[in-house]
Amino acid sequence: MNDSHPMNDPRIIVALDYSAAAQALQLVERLDPKLCRLKVGKELFTAEGPRLVEKFVALNFGVFLDLKFHDIPNTTAHACAAAAKLGVWMLNVHASGGRAMMLAAREALDKLTAPPRLIAVTVLTSMNEAALFEVGINTALPDQVLRLARLTHECALDGVVCSAQEAPELREALGRDFCLVTPGIRPANSGHDDQSRVVTPKDALAMGSNYLVIGRPITQAADPLAALHAIHQEIISV
Ligand code: C5P
Repeated sequence: MNDSHPMNDPRIIVALDYSAAAQALQLVERLDPKLCRLKVGKELFTAEGPRLVEKFVALNFGVFLDLKFHDIPNTTAHACAAAAKLGVWMLNVHASGGRAMMLAAREALDKLTAPPRLIAVTVLTSMNEAALFEVGINTALPDQVLRLARLTHECALDGVVCSAQEAPELREALGRDFCLVTPGIRPANSGHDDQSRVVTPKDALAMGSNYLVIGRPITQAADPLAALHAIHQEIISV
C-alpha cells in the first residue's frame, strides 16, 4: 500500500460533537482508525481537555483539533505548538486573524520534525453577506472566501475548511496540493439534520474535497461502524 491508499490516509473525519468524554469514547471504541480520523471541537475540548485528545492519539486515530485559533501572532503560534505537542494530525486557525498571525503559526510548526497539517477557516458558513456587512466587510461572500483562501495559501498553510460547493473554485485557484476539508456531507440515503446544503461523500470528493467531516450520519447511527464502512465503500472508488 502506498501513502495515497485510502487505508493509509482515511478521508473521513468523524466529528465528535459531544459534551463529555464518556460518550465520545463509547463511540470511538466502535470506530476503526484505518477508516477514519476524529474531529475534536471546542465543546468537547473545553469540557474534557487535552488528555482526551492524547487518548485518541494513543488509540492510533488521527485527530483534527478544531479550535479555530484567532489571536495575536505570538499567542496563536504558541497555541499551535501546544496543540502539536498533543500529537494531533491537523489543527486550524481563522484566516481573518491575518497574514502575520498565520505566518507565526506556520513558523512555529515548521520548527517541529513532524508538524501537524495547519489549515484555516475562511468565512464561517453561519455568516451571510448581511452578517459580514455588519462587521465591516462589504464584499460578496464567495469573493471573501476566495480572498481569505488565497491569503492562507500565500502564508503557506496547508489548506482550508470549505463547503463542497466552494471546492471546485478553490481547487482551480489554489492548485492540487491545497488541502480542502469539507463538512455538510450526507450519504445519499440519510437525512439532512440542520444542514441546509448537503453533498454526498462521493460527490464532495469529485468536486475537489480531500477530507470529509461527517458527524451525525455516523455518530447517531444505530451501528456507527457499519455506517462508516458504508461511506468508506461509497468513496473508495473515487
Ligand atoms: O453532524 P454533522 O455531519 O452535520 O456535523 C458536521 C460537523 O462539521 C460539526 O462538527 C460542525 O460544527 C462542523 N462544521 C459544519 N459546517 C461548517 C464548519 C464546521 O457543519 N461550515
